[in-house]
Amino acid sequence: MFRKLFAKKAARKVELVDGPSFEVGRNETVLEAALKAGIAYPHDCTVGTCGSCRSRLLQGKVDAITPFGYTLSREELLAGYILACQAVPESDLVIEVPLESGVVRAVPARIVEQRQLTHDIRCVTWEADGAIDYRAGQYMNVTWPGAPGPRSYSFSTAPAEGGRTRLSAFIRRVPGGAFTDALFAGAMDEQSFTIEAPHGTFWLREGTGPIVLIGGGSGLSPLMSVLEHAVDKGVQRDAILLFGGRTERDLYCQAEIAEIGANWKGRFDFRPVLSEEQAPQHRFGMVTGEIPVALSELGDPAATQAYLCGPPGMIDAGIAALTAAGVPLTSIFYDKFTDASTAAR
Ligand SMILES: Cc1cc2nc3c(=O)[nH]c(=O)nc-3n(C[C@H](O)[C@H](O)[C@H](O)COP(=O)(O)OP(=O)(O)OC[C@H]3O[C@@H](n4cnc5c(N)ncnc54)[C@H](O)[C@@H]3O)c2cc1C
Ligand code: FES
Repeated sequence: MFRKLFAKKAARKVELVDGPSFEVGRNETVLEAALKAGIAYPHDCTVGTCGSCRSRLLQGKVDAITPFGYTLSREELLAGYILACQAVPESDLVIEVPLESGVVRAVPARIVEQRQLTHDIRCVTWEADGAIDYRAGQYMNVTWPGAPGPRSYSFSTAPAEGGRTRLSAFIRRVPGGAFTDALFAGAMDEQSFTIEAPHGTFWLREGTGPIVLIGGGSGLSPLMSVLEHAVDKGVQRDAILLFGGRTERDLYCQAEIAEIGANWKGRFDFRPVLSEEQAPQHRFGMVTGEIPVALSELGDPAATQAYLCGPPGMIDAGIAALTAAGVPLTSIFYDKFTDASTAAR
């Protein structure tokens, strides 16, 4: 028994369905080993709270440093999803994960424009010293001297050929937040930043079936980028955009969304849903409560792709509603907008 307990664990082999294989050393996580091997494995927090490293375990067994269930939904756990940053292999593994795409660059940048969108959301634009080439839906990591850590912000505009130097995101003020409190107080106007990007795997997948997009708060940022890019590319798929706010003062970008709708090839519906105010022209309730109706109107849940962005609770409720209505988990894509309070839980 003692020999077994103290036996030196052999390195484990991890095979990626759509990527290279790599070895994971003793007590290393799948993510640590993948990054060491130079693989563009998706990740953000590295502490098991954001869900960016969500991967599907097809073969093998892992130990979880912190239980995956803190971050992944019940549906995801049942379907074999793990968090690579918390997974230590117990055997050789076969894993399915979309790798990040694009050449990551770190460039100096400064804020050149801020536009108030709602009482607590601004469109913030940085001018970077070099162009960043990103895919619609991806995000940047922003740091500044003395920053407690990088802050992630999803690009709000469609990408441009050859990359962009003007980089915009919709940013919500989080009371007590190290970055957003300072930003909204005007204390970041003269600050020098470093932007590292592109990151993430939240982009529009190939397909011909319908799409449902669900956003809350500043979660509209990457959805606008995805939608604008889809219009530019002439994507022809039926789409419904559900957006959740508390009251009418949380709604924004309505003119821009109307323009997307006017240029969309196929059906395009935009449905704001208010959770704390009844207004005659808007739906009332939780935004995720509108998912079943939207899916039934789009017609074929099994062929529908879903894109969700915003607060973690909204995304977990969205996944539950989508899978209950027949959307396969493999057709659900999301970015959870986590912050320091999520990590501390
Ligand atoms: C992939 C990704 C994309 C994102 N994209 C966007 C986007 O496009 N737009 C957007 O607005 N946001 C986005 N976010 C969220 C964003 O990165 C920041 O987390 C957010 O702006 C808050 O940053 P902050 O520095 O202001 O707050 P933080 O300093 O992170 O604080 C957030 C909250 O936690 C509290 N807190 C701080 N430390 C602790 C602690 N130790 N214990 C308990 N509570 C604590 C603070 O008081 C505050 O209320 C994204 C996040 C991810 C992961
Ligand atoms: S990187 Fe693994 S959960 Fe955030």
